[in-house]
Amino acid sequence: MQTKASTEDISSAGMLQARLKANSRATRDFDEWCLRQLPELPMPARVLDLGCGTGKQISLFAPLLSPGSELIGIDLSAEALDSLKANYTAAASLRLIAGDFDQEAAFEGITPGSLDLVYGSYALYYTKDLPALVRRVHELLKPGGVFWVVCPYSGTNDEFLRILRPLHEVEDFMDYVFDRFHQEVIALGEAQGFKSLKPSLLRNQIRFPSAGAFMTYLSNSLFYRPGHDEAITAAVQQVVDQEGVFAVSKNVLSLQLRK
Ligand SMILES: C[S@@+](CC[C@H](N)C(=O)[O-])C[C@H]1O[C@@H](n2cnc3c(N)ncnc32)[C@H](O)[C@@H]1O
Repeated sequence: MQTKASTEDISSAGMLQARLKANSRATRDFDEWCLRQLPELPMPARVLDLGCGTGKQISLFAPLLSPGSELIGIDLSAEALDSLKANYTAAASLRLIAGDFDQEAAFEGITPGSLDLVYGSYALYYTKDLPALVRRVHELLKPGGVFWVVCPYSGTNDEFLRILRPLHEVEDFMDYVFDRFHQEVIALGEAQGFKSLKPSLLRNQIRFPSAGAFMTYLSNSLFYRPGHDEAITAAVQQVVDQEGVFAVSKNVLSLQLRK
């Protein structure tokens, strides 16, 4: 079984800021791509975002929902939910639940068979029980409702993982997230009785103009291990000298399973 990275680590404010800064160097617009993937919904719609965090996606989709729609967000972090609540301005009503999507209690008050869309972006691989979560999502959706998972895809970070791997161990959890998680979602979805699957892939890149810019990003990521800066800097600098930039793949997979 893979070791799971701590969700506390991943949401620390400083690390998040550094990652957001790196995202501004991306070649493709993730939000615009996400919006294009949004499935057609009956209006008013009922939408659940699992692991909504500070509401990056909720804020994106909410303006497209008619008045009378309801958005529900579940997240472990009460702090993230406070920030989402403070910045929310759309007409659709918003219900936020500070809870664990692995616990039944988080779903109390959501009627089975009542949701048009259950969404999880960069969050569902933290579950301790993916089969139970897929079962629960299926139960909560209306017939014809969509379970939409957005996650990183194979090839992500390959350019620097091939530099890091000879220097130190890289957690098995990362391989799970990039390569195996989406396969499990597809297999469990089929077994649960979801009727159709719509995959879509975004091939994105973050382009670092210098070894220093990359090291700032790396030192704020879960991949960082002290003691190897010199070797990594030299390897990245070599690429920058040859190609003018250090480009890191950020492949994103959207999976939509229809009940
Ligand atoms: C990387 S963030 C993604 C946030 C948001 N979905 C986005 O795409 O910007 C992962 C989020 O999942 C939440 N999370 C992780 N495990 C969770 C769990 N078991 N129950 C509820 N939320 C969880 C974390 O608190 C964090 O806000």
